[in-house]
Amino acid sequence: MAKASAPGKLILFGEHFVVYGLPAIAAAVEGRTLAEVTKADKYSLVDNRPETPGYKKEKRGQQQESINLMFKAMRLEPSNVRISLGGDLVLASGVGASGASCAAIAAAANAEFRLGLGRERINDVAYEGEKGYHGTPSGIDNSCSTYGGFIWFKKGASGAKSEIGPMDSKAKLSIVVGNTGITSNTTKVVGEVKQLKEGEPARFQMTADEYLSISGEAKAAIDRKDLSKIGDLMNRNHALLRDIGVSCKELEEMVDAALDAGAIGAKLTGTGRGGLMIALVTEETVEKVASAIRKKGYKAEITGIGAEGVKVIG
Ligand code: PMV
Repeated sequence: MAKASAPGKLILFGEHFVVYGLPAIAAAVEGRTLAEVTKADKYSLVDNRPETPGYKKEKRGQQQESINLMFKAMRLEPSNVRISLGGDLVLASGVGASGASCAAIAAAANAEFRLGLGRERINDVAYEGEKGYHGTPSGIDNSCSTYGGFIWFKKGASGAKSEIGPMDSKAKLSIVVGNTGITSNTTKVVGEVKQLKEGEPARFQMTADEYLSISGEAKAAIDRKDLSKIGDLMNRNHALLRDIGVSCKELEEMVDAALDAGAIGAKLTGTGRGGLMIALVTEETVEKVASAIRKKGYKAEITGIGAEGVKVIG
């Protein structure tokens, strides 16, 4: 039996825009998914990961497709394997749950079957797995779960390799994560953004141009750990996401509550239309912001970001 764990991620800047080749910044969270892969006579999957209610059921078909794609990429037969998933990453839309499980399964299978794959190939296999969840993923989730820390990510144009730049940031940012409790459908929301882009190209281009300047400033602000600038840019990024229609009333309510309670910045993260929001906080404001979100009836968790990437255990 081989075991590996991988962290979830939060997109700090650039969800949706990343699909169109603009750079995004993501960071690994402290919560991790643990995968155990064991050679066996027949296939079985046990999934004990903690979840937002309904998440696993919603994703079950996609999960099977994802495992098949990864084993195909590793030239292995999934019929001869037992997979067991656990860990402390609470599954939710926006936390990179699928990317974390793909990276952990790929690394554990690599160890169990002695395939000798390096980190880059493990990331390629995890990317294949992500396709099972949402047809044309940018690859940011699996890359963040594989490499950990903070990453600067730019999707390659059709078929070309993506640019994945681990950022040398020592910024220890404290984040409150608010959960709408709604599992969003990435394929559907990404499809609707595509329709907007095709229906109103000039408007979309203006929004994308504004995002591009935010992304450059954000990288510099994270590098120098300028919290107030990072927060301001998060707010601006959230406004653009609202403009392209991927926010919802629950996310807006949490963003407003977090800012009123003293968060430095707040935005939705990931797909949107449900899923998660993130608020940048300090030691002084962390509890106030978390409790303001809880008072509105949502779950809130506190996490550090910049955690270690996928690793084999034992
Ligand atoms: O909801 P998440 O964490 O899987 O993030 C999706 C991010 C998108 O940019 C909307 C899609 C993608 O493939 O990058």
